[in-house]
Amino acid sequence: MKIQTNPQEENFEISSRTLTPVEREEDYQQKSLRPRSLSEYIGQEKLKDHISLALSAAKSRKEPLDHILLHGPPGLGKTTLAAVIASEMGVSFRSTSGPVLERAGDLAAILSGLEENDVLFIDEIHRLPRVVEEILYPAMEDFQIDIIIGQGPAARSVKIDIKPFTLVAATTRTGSLTAPLRDRFGIVERFDFYEVSELSTITIRSAGILDVKIDSAGANQIASRSRGTPRIANRLLKRARDYAEQRADSIITDDVANSALNLLDIDSNGLDKMDRMILSAIVEMFDGGPVGIETISAALGEEKTTIEDVYEPYLLQNGFLKRTPRGREATSKAIDYLNKRQGTL
Ligand SMILES: Nc1ncnc2c1ncn2[C@@H]1O[C@H](COP(=O)(O)OP(=O)(O)OP(=O)(O)O)[C@@H](O)[C@H]1O
Ligand SMILES: [Mg+2]
Repeated sequence: MKIQTNPQEENFEISSRTLTPVEREEDYQQKSLRPRSLSEYIGQEKLKDHISLALSAAKSRKEPLDHILLHGPPGLGKTTLAAVIASEMGVSFRSTSGPVLERAGDLAAILSGLEENDVLFIDEIHRLPRVVEEILYPAMEDFQIDIIIGQGPAARSVKIDIKPFTLVAATTRTGSLTAPLRDRFGIVERFDFYEVSELSTITIRSAGILDVKIDSAGANQIASRSRGTPRIANRLLKRARDYAEQRADSIITDDVANSALNLLDIDSNGLDKMDRMILSAIVEMFDGGPVGIETISAALGEEKTTIEDVYEPYLLQNGFLKRTPRGREATSKAIDYLNKRQGTL
């Protein structure tokens, strides 16, 4: 069996990918779409329940909440939840990220500026440099930071007290966290992909905020192609709105959503060109696998971590890919899927 890659798909660039769950410029303009309280936060019921219990316990003891580690694929609402936690606690929200904190002093400055019980959010905590991470240990445990005063033989370390605070950290990969850091979180929660019905509710909520008319079949159509990810649902909603305004009578119906998303080459499984390139590379070039992630990455000219963090989770979850000790394997579902597409080209 030979599956050909569509030549148009070969020049496909990741930056143009509508389905990327990674935050893009346009997503920034939609801060208003972010839920502000736990009651507005849709889905992730188990996780919300744990957080809400911890929140009320901390509030009644008038203590800061335990440090929380949130992990899972991009675009599922980790940053949003961190901000919701701060607002539910009635404290300020300070936000930074692993790669931004280059020197120990950068983090020490932020920590010493925190007010009592504030929430400090560190995104991509797995990218925190080791020297910065070491500042975090005593800060998380004893609300103290060690700073070095002076230079050379006269240098000495001084402990400074900081106000009690809650660290909420997010990562797409807990495996990359050092054990001493991971062990300092009292609460560790994993995000799952959202159900279609939840994404449908999110889409209807966002449409209300954006003042877009949509019916329930239209919302369902968008939801089922958003690969379990609210950030993608919001983005597809905007594309469908453009289509509805320009080529239909401004209401997103099933038909309108369908045409808009077909135009973007997103199929009914929520798979796009990059997904198909990954699957067809494994099937065509490596006989269905198993094949190592480094090899797939080299064959497609795409970063290994991007494939692992961004594309693979959804393909694994939906049974298109299998992870084996010897590498990735395309499933019979993937082969059927590619064959069917081949038939429609
Ligand atoms: N539970 C939810 N209910 C409603 N909307 C949500 C929910 N979770 C996320 N969203 C929407 O999805 C968008 C993306 O969420 P967010 O930026 O928090 O994702 P993230 O998990 O932090 O992603 P990343 O890992 O890329 O930082 C938000 O702007 C928000 O509008
Ligand atoms: Mg985020």
